[in-house]
Amino acid sequence: MKIFLLGYMGSGKSTVGKLLAERLKHRFVDLDQYIEDQEDEKISSLFQKKGEIYFRKKERAALDELLEMEEALVISLGGGTPCYGDNLQVIQNSAENTTVYLKYSIPILLERLWKEKEHRPVISHLEDREKLEEFIRKHLFERGFYYNQSNLILSCDEQSPEQICAA
Ligand code: S3P
Repeated sequence: MKIFLLGYMGSGKSTVGKLLAERLKHRFVDLDQYIEDQEDEKISSLFQKKGEIYFRKKERAALDELLEMEEALVISLGGGTPCYGDNLQVIQNSAENTTVYLKYSIPILLERLWKEKEHRPVISHLEDREKLEEFIRKHLFERGFYYNQSNLILSCDEQSPEQICAA
C-alpha cells in the first residue's frame, strides 16, 4: 500500500507525510528529497543549471522507481508532480495506491509562500506579494484539475498536522 500526498507548494506535505508514516509504521519518502539525493543537488540548483524539463524527467523517473517498490510507503509528492504527463494516472492505476490532497485556501498559501519563496524555483522570481498572489490563484486553478482527482480531499486550513493525520 502506498499513500501519496498531493498539494500545492507550502501545503506541509512533508510534515504531514512524516507524521503519517510514523503512525502507520510505513517508510516515508519525500520525492524532492529522493531526487536531491540521487542527483546530489538541491532542486533549486537543478532548475537553475539544467532547467525544468530535466527536473520533470528526473521527477518521473523517481516516481517510477517508487511505484516499483514492494514496500508500504507514505510519499510526499512535489507540488507539480501530479500535473505532468501521465504521472497521476500511473499512480492511480493501482488500487493499492491512495492519493490524498492537502487543500489550503489561497490566503494561507500566500502567507506561507511569501515567507519562503527564495528556495522555490517556480515562484522565486516573483518580487511582490500581489504578483505572487495572482500567480498562486492561476496556478492553483490549473493544478486543481489534477489535485481534485485525489481519492481523498482534506480541507486543511486551521488544521494542525496531527489533526490532518487523524482525518
Ligand atoms: C514544484 C514544487 C516543489 C518542487 C519543485 C517544483 C512545483 O515541491 O518539486 O520546486 O512545480 O510546484 P514542493 O511542493 O514540495 O515545494
